[in-house]
Amino acid sequence: MNKQVLITGGAKRVGRYLSQHFARAGYDVLIHVNQSQKEGELLVTELSDKYPDQQFTLLTYNLSDWKQLPAYIKQVFGDYGIPDVIIHNASRYAPGTLREVSLQDMEEMMAIHLYAPMIIGQQYRKVGGHGSIINLLDTAIITNDTSHAMYLLAKKSLAEYTKMSALEWAPEIRVNGIALGPVLPPEGKDDSYFNSVVGSTPLKNKVELANIASTIDLIITNENISGQIIYCDSAQHLI
Ligand SMILES: NC(=O)c1ccc[n+]([C@@H]2O[C@H](COP(=O)([O-])OP(=O)(O)OC[C@H]3O[C@@H](n4cnc5c(N)ncnc54)[C@H](OP(=O)(O)O)[C@@H]3O)[C@@H](O)[C@H]2O)c1
Repeated sequence: MNKQVLITGGAKRVGRYLSQHFARAGYDVLIHVNQSQKEGELLVTELSDKYPDQQFTLLTYNLSDWKQLPAYIKQVFGDYGIPDVIIHNASRYAPGTLREVSLQDMEEMMAIHLYAPMIIGQQYRKVGGHGSIINLLDTAIITNDTSHAMYLLAKKSLAEYTKMSALEWAPEIRVNGIALGPVLPPEGKDDSYFNSVVGSTPLKNKVELANIASTIDLIITNENISGQIIYCDSAQHLI
């Protein structure tokens, strides 16, 4: 039987690359999407054609709807089995300072970045999950910049949760985080800001998708690593 991975936000950008990476590695992939249903369907077709002995399944769910998530994810594990790896990749890089943030944004940002990983983790634990959970973080978690206040607060919370859950859920489940530096410009934004961020990193290079994947592989294969946050960020956390 093939191993299985669940990737949230798995149809575009970083998530899409990771879906392709796990497919290449022989996994069945549960590709979760919210709005990118079309891209998800195309990706499922592409991967199914390329890897006919593996299963590729599209899951559509808006993680803002966190109160219904326990029942939904229980159903997913019941229908498709319990994954060996879960990658919490879904994210919304929403601008707004603490003064500006709306009640709706407060709830939505915590739902996507913290409640969803917590709820999926609880259900994973309940059904006897045994494997590796990886939370994609942002190197900005070491800062207190409020330009994307709720995004950052939620990612900081996810980083703390990474360590707490790693302790509570050992030995069956390992939980780790990867704090990323500049990978891709935010959607719809031009490259100039992104290039200036890349240029300001000590290593002066953007984070390659392949290096995110190899960091994930390291975490999955090294059974002594849990509760770690690995900075894959061209040393941006040092400045
Ligand atoms: N890009 C970078 O340079 C960078 C830098 C630091 C950290 N990171 C982290 O790395 C990860 C991947 O980055 P990225 O830029 O590829 O992410 P992204 O494009 O901003 O978001 C990934 C996916 O999250 C999903 N998503 C957003 N809101 C959702 C909701 N309410 N419910 C369910 N899914 C939702 C979207 O799925 P749909 O399209 O299906 O709606 C989206 O495609 C993120 O966790 C991000 O914080 C990225």
